Amino acid sequence: MASTFGAAQVLVASNRGPVSYEVGEDGSLHAKRGGGGLVSGLSAIGPDAGALWVCSALSDGDREAVRRGVGEEGVRMLDVPADVHADAYNGIANSVLWFVHHMLYQTPLEPVFDAEFRRQWASYEAYNRAFAEALAEEAAEGAVAIVQDYHLTLVPGMLRELRPDLRIGHFSHTPWAPVDYFRILPDDIAEQVLRGMLGADRLGFLTRRWADAFTACCDALVGGPGDTRIGVHGLGADADFLRRRSHEADVDERMAGLRAEIGAGPDGNARRTIVRVDRTELSKNIVRGLLAYRRLLADRPEWRERVVHVAFAYPSRQDLAVYRDYTAEVQRVAEEINAEYGTPGWTPVVLHVKDDFARSLAAYRLADVALVNPVRDGMNLVAKEVPVVSDEGCVLVLSREAGAYEELGEDAVVVNPYDVVGTAAALHEALSIGAAERAERSKRLASAATALPPGRWFLEQLEELRG
Ligand code: G6P
Repeated sequence: MASTFGAAQVLVASNRGPVSYEVGEDGSLHAKRGGGGLVSGLSAIGPDAGALWVCSALSDGDREAVRRGVGEEGVRMLDVPADVHADAYNGIANSVLWFVHHMLYQTPLEPVFDAEFRRQWASYEAYNRAFAEALAEEAAEGAVAIVQDYHLTLVPGMLRELRPDLRIGHFSHTPWAPVDYFRILPDDIAEQVLRGMLGADRLGFLTRRWADAFTACCDALVGGPGDTRIGVHGLGADADFLRRRSHEADVDERMAGLRAEIGAGPDGNARRTIVRVDRTELSKNIVRGLLAYRRLLADRPEWRERVVHVAFAYPSRQDLAVYRDYTAEVQRVAEEINAEYGTPGWTPVVLHVKDDFARSLAAYRLADVALVNPVRDGMNLVAKEVPVVSDEGCVLVLSREAGAYEELGEDAVVVNPYDVVGTAAALHEALSIGAAERAERSKRLASAATALPPGRWFLEQLEELRG
């Protein structure tokens, strides 16, 4: 496996890495490169900068690649035992820390921190230790290491002990819970998380709101953040990449397909579109979005036959029953709306659940209205991407609980994500805005959305850490 043993100058650590492998029928390994902010961020520092990305082996193909010593330059995959990873990732990261920061517990019944939780926590510690040890082994003297997200909160403290010479950062891509909610965690665990992160020289958050919440937790539970610096870097959309990619042939093809699914209204004009694209995470609030759309059709019959809700809800974390149930509920409500309002020539909700990036971009281009209504979200890049890509400009209906609200709130139609009637009214308002105003708003949204592209987002953090 590609490794630099003590030579890496810049290190990134995250659970999910930039590449994954599949084993072909003939036993050969195929690499699939991922996208995302971190990938383009890291590429901004150039291939010769001695950068190394430490990540988990997640699939059977990944584990096979580690076993065979196959790898990409600049990437080291850690093959921690599958059961340890499952406890750390599904048990702690996705079922506890994700729930706390997104305030998703239904507290009369959940959570229950029992012996099983303690057992999983021990795996989370072991998993974090594997990362700290790999980083310690790979880093050159005085190198910079930036650790990502809630999967790896203990790494900064562990790494600091192993390698006091390093400059250590940690970046949170999620919200941070308010103190009273964070204290749902057992006291010793809450403290361990905070102290683990405070092992870093500098912590990064997506918005001021999450940074302040973290500081408040430190003040309440561990006597403040001490010497650790705290900064805000609002990751923006990658305009160059999106504009180029969204005009490639496969996207044009998907647009034609989508146009056919959307169809024309009674006046012969193409129907208006309300577009949403999400991974089906519990925080995305897809079901209330559908209920709001149903309310719109009920209260405003003038929109029937003239609008289509294009909803892409891609599978996420399907190992967890609660995610599978949520996906099923999304499908059930969409079918209900189609059965209730659909006509032979009109499908009110066009729902797709199979991940297809080119089709997502096609929907962005066609969007009249983009619906982004999470109950809580670190940033939400879809809110930033649609205005950049949409052909005619779109109106953004945006939850005030998304991090993106801090930067885009002024030019969006803002909603309380729990308020279905309010969201229906917002959809009506958004659909009613005229073409000229829509184009203008969309332009302003696109410029705010691209203020800090991924390359600069990453370099900013690097410079701060290098001081
Ligand atoms: C969301 C969060 C990120 C997180 C990612 C993990 O997108 O905003 O903070 O890293 O999920 O997703 P995964 O599919 O790896 O569980």
